[in-house]
Amino acid sequence: NQGVAVVTSGGDSQGMNAALRAIVRIGLYLGCKIFYIREGYEGLIAGNENITEATWNSVSSIIQKGGTVIGSARSERFMTPEGKLKSVKNLVKRGITNLIVIGGDGSLTGAMDLKNQWSDVLNQLEKSGEISKEEKERYNYLNVVGLIGTIDNDFPGTNMTIGTDSALHRILEAVNALESTAYSHRRTFILEVMGRHCGYLALKTAMTTEADYVFVPEMPPPLNWPAILKDKITTSTRYGKRLHLIVLAEGAIDLNGNPITALMVKKIVTENMGLDARITVLGHVQRGGSPSAYDRILASRQAAAAVVAVLELKPDDRPIVVTVESNEIKLMDLQTCIENVKKLQIALKNLEFNKVLELRGKS
Ligand code: F6P
Repeated sequence: NQGVAVVTSGGDSQGMNAALRAIVRIGLYLGCKIFYIREGYEGLIAGNENITEATWNSVSSIIQKGGTVIGSARSERFMTPEGKLKSVKNLVKRGITNLIVIGGDGSLTGAMDLKNQWSDVLNQLEKSGEISKEEKERYNYLNVVGLIGTIDNDFPGTNMTIGTDSALHRILEAVNALESTAYSHRRTFILEVMGRHCGYLALKTAMTTEADYVFVPEMPPPLNWPAILKDKITTSTRYGKRLHLIVLAEGAIDLNGNPITALMVKKIVTENMGLDARITVLGHVQRGGSPSAYDRILASRQAAAAVVAVLELKPDDRPIVVTVESNEIKLMDLQTCIENVKKLQIALKNLEFNKVLELRGKS
């Protein structure tokens, strides 16, 4: 009858609800008490009605919904000592010693920090009289498991993250719609897609839509890209191509690390090539809508593995993260993956692109 809490944190992604559903149903089947933490880590800090017990029926008819029915937030406060104190106290008061976090790298880093600081924070709470000695001794550990929910597919160590496939479908629907109007008007569309510092969505969009050019942060174009782009597009125009599509990752940069923006690309197309061009920034449309079959299945399989894993962890075990590789669900050491996230960020900042590609590895 162990207490297992689940929180969705950071930017939402399609498939989070499928994960919630599987956590609740598998958890109840295994005899656990499952708690929802609503509104991300902000709800954990606030406690009270933000932490509620889940029932079997509470997850009916959510597998097909985008977003997360328990809410999400990007919480700065959770990173502070005060936020940690309130969070630990709220978990202890509910008898929760198992936490499953569904979110991106920032949210999973937060979960790892909570685990690492657990004992210190417990001591502080006992000293200030906010928890009793018995509570401190009884709840002297926290088991942590992460599920990677983000459309960016930017987490080292996994082939896919929950939400990426649905986001890609959303993008393809948009491109299908753009192509008909682009054809009618013989236009070039510059399509900006999400992904923060990761070019996965942009690259896969380009591969699946016959795009003419793609800009991703991991492999910037040669510095003479305006000339290369001009050559490519004017040649195909000469051969009768009526529409062109240029896909741009929101984090695209050049070899010197300067941003390549949609406006810059549009200027090259209109001024250097004399063509008619429009910009479409897809934005949060990519994060919305019903999850794909792939995301529902991935989320359900990974969530089931997360529940079993969190119950099997020993108090001194390090947090783990559920990944997928060659369609097999795997468990990895969360801290190692987070260290790779940090290495990736540094390599990108230092413009060490070979290292970036190596670290991106499995995706
Ligand atoms: O990490 C997911 C993501 O959608 C990124 O692709 C994007 O850069 C960011 O979140 C947008 O964040 P917000 O929803 O807070 O505007």
